[in-house]
Amino acid sequence: MQPHSTPGALVRELSRLFVRSQRAQSSCVDGASNVQCHVLTELLRVDELSGLTQHALVERLSLDKAWISRAVDALVSDGVVAKRPHEDDKRSVKLSLTALGRIRAEKLENTLNAHAAQVFEHIAVDQHAQIHDALAVLVSALTQSAQAALNKTASDSDNEIKPASQIDTLVFEDASMLDVPAIEALLVQANLSIVGVRRHIAHFRLGKFGGKIVAVGGLEIYGEQALLRSIAVDTEQRNKAYGKQIVRDVCHSAQRAGIRDVYLKTVSARAFFAGLGFQVIAYEQVPASVKKSSQFRAAGPASATLMHCAL
Ligand SMILES: CC(C)(COP(=O)(O)OP(=O)(O)OC[C@H]1O[C@@H](n2cnc3c(N)ncnc32)[C@H](O)[C@@H]1OP(=O)(O)O)[C@@H](O)C(=O)NCCC(=O)NCCS
Repeated sequence: MQPHSTPGALVRELSRLFVRSQRAQSSCVDGASNVQCHVLTELLRVDELSGLTQHALVERLSLDKAWISRAVDALVSDGVVAKRPHEDDKRSVKLSLTALGRIRAEKLENTLNAHAAQVFEHIAVDQHAQIHDALAVLVSALTQSAQAALNKTASDSDNEIKPASQIDTLVFEDASMLDVPAIEALLVQANLSIVGVRRHIAHFRLGKFGGKIVAVGGLEIYGEQALLRSIAVDTEQRNKAYGKQIVRDVCHSAQRAGIRDVYLKTVSARAFFAGLGFQVIAYEQVPASVKKSSQFRAAGPASATLMHCAL
């Protein structure tokens, strides 16, 4: 059998070669170490004002806590990353890029994008769309596999007594018409509009813990664009990372449905969504189809914050 004759062997070889060549590229950018590069690109995705806690960084990068801590300290002493006290939690700090850090992170991102574009130059142009679709399928499969692993860990440890601070992983499922009363109750409790829930129920997801619905989120799909709506967590269950989990799950389901851009409108949760990679945009940048939706018009006043995330 040839070394790369199975899909698994091909994926491993692709990952090995690509990571190795990207590493060679990124080490050229101001000599930053690999973990520092990951930290820079991750911080570039969050809103400067909201920043990211070190804990959230560890969670997002799935890298060793001590490595990240060392990389952050080095970046802070280089004047690339700034630390400031967390507004709500005295034990925690928020990290964000300084002006110098933003320049360095953008330079790094451009280098990595240019490298990926160079790789594509070795592929016939008429095959680009096909490769793009195949990669999107692979990304979706990897996302689902990671989610399944998380769910398994959660169910394996269901019988343990856990400290309240420990993060529990929700079990996600598609909503159905039968769930509409429970969803609407959660939305009313969260002060969110219930307009159009029934019409878009096929694109609603539920986050359950111990069989009980604790989080909900939905999409209104308009071609390759979608409005992220109705993100709500039971008031008794907030600040347990359920909000972040439901947003990520709904975005993964959008990715699986071929959505490229997700938009939202929020009155009070701008920092929450910024921490998940959403960026503030102007009204003119929202596509007409999304603007027309009754939910978009119902979700708060004209002064509400509009945000976008490219999937
Ligand atoms: C917004 C909401 C979904 C967050 O859910 P949650 O489970 O409490 O949030 P998580 O535990 O996943 O995330 C906690 C993080 O988000 C931040 N956060 C939570 N709610 C926030 C809000 N309304 N504004 C700003 N930041 C918020 C926390 O400070 C924390 O930050 P950290 O990780 O840096 O410490 C929940 O508060 C809710 O249902 N609110 C009412 C409905 C709503 O406003 N929905 C959004 C508009 S569609």
